[in-house]
Amino acid sequence: MSTDQCCVVSCDRPLDLEYWDTQYQHNTTGWDLGQVSPPLKSYVDTVSDKNIAILIPGCGNTYEAEYLLEQGFTNVSVIDIAPTLVAGLQTKFGNNPNITIICGDFFEHKGQYDLIIEQTFFCALPPSLRQKYVWKMHQLLAKNGLLAGLLFNRTFEVSPPFGGSKEEYEKLFQQAFHLQQIEIATNSIAPRAGSELFIEFKKNSDLLVSLYEFEGITCNGCMNTVSTAFMNIEEVKNVSMSTDFSEVVLVSTSEIPLTQLQALVSYDEKYKIKKQ
Ligand SMILES: C[S@@+](CC[C@H](N)C(=O)[O-])C[C@H]1O[C@@H](n2cnc3c(N)ncnc32)[C@H](O)[C@@H]1O
Repeated sequence: MSTDQCCVVSCDRPLDLEYWDTQYQHNTTGWDLGQVSPPLKSYVDTVSDKNIAILIPGCGNTYEAEYLLEQGFTNVSVIDIAPTLVAGLQTKFGNNPNITIICGDFFEHKGQYDLIIEQTFFCALPPSLRQKYVWKMHQLLAKNGLLAGLLFNRTFEVSPPFGGSKEEYEKLFQQAFHLQQIEIATNSIAPRAGSELFIEFKKNSDLLVSLYEFEGITCNGCMNTVSTAFMNIEEVKNVSMSTDFSEVVLVSTSEIPLTQLQALVSYDEKYKIKKQ
């Protein structure tokens, strides 16, 4: 199976625990490289402090964690939603004290990490969760923590994986993170050559990242009007709304009172906003 094609089925059902567990039960894991991804291997080789707290979300078979442990890293956590996969990881890593294996939903996870490694997790999520991903990554990173890894710089006919572009990622992550690196990876595996961006984003600890649920928007025009209204608030540095218009992330220098946001959208009685 091509490693560019994440799954053998087209996804018209929720990408939930059941969906992912089924992929592991049936071995339909076309995304699995069977080895540490070369750009990540190169990156790990540059990290000198072996005691930093590292998280790998949507870890899959996590050759990256294996490599980190081989290199002497002492504080590696991995999380995945698929119980079948996680049971296998527990057997694979045994009682190694340097790794914590968590079966659960990344978006429910609590913790503080110096480094979070991205490897085909972002692209496995429905695009409507991208704003929530930015918010959650910002929350899970310690002061000046890093999000590093690979994002696809292409689209796909069958999803997942869900693709994207450098421009889209820049708009999505800007202000919440300092985009230290976002360049085509030079040593991707052959089927992904030229189509993945290596990213290193540093948490912007000076700004607040807040996620809101939004109701009532049904088109891009209305989304732009609402986004512009929020962007015009002096303290707001970036606004990004999800593709299904149900969530909006605000990056700001201080907390924006919910009442202020509600007042700004009160011209349409269908619009409702509340904080997550
Ligand atoms: C495309 S696979 C990538 C696995 C691994 N990173 C790799 O490259 O081999 C996506 C992984 O994310 C996991 N996943 C999907 N949604 C998740 C969520 N909300 N929380 C945690 N894991 C999730 C799936 O179970 C699956 O293992």
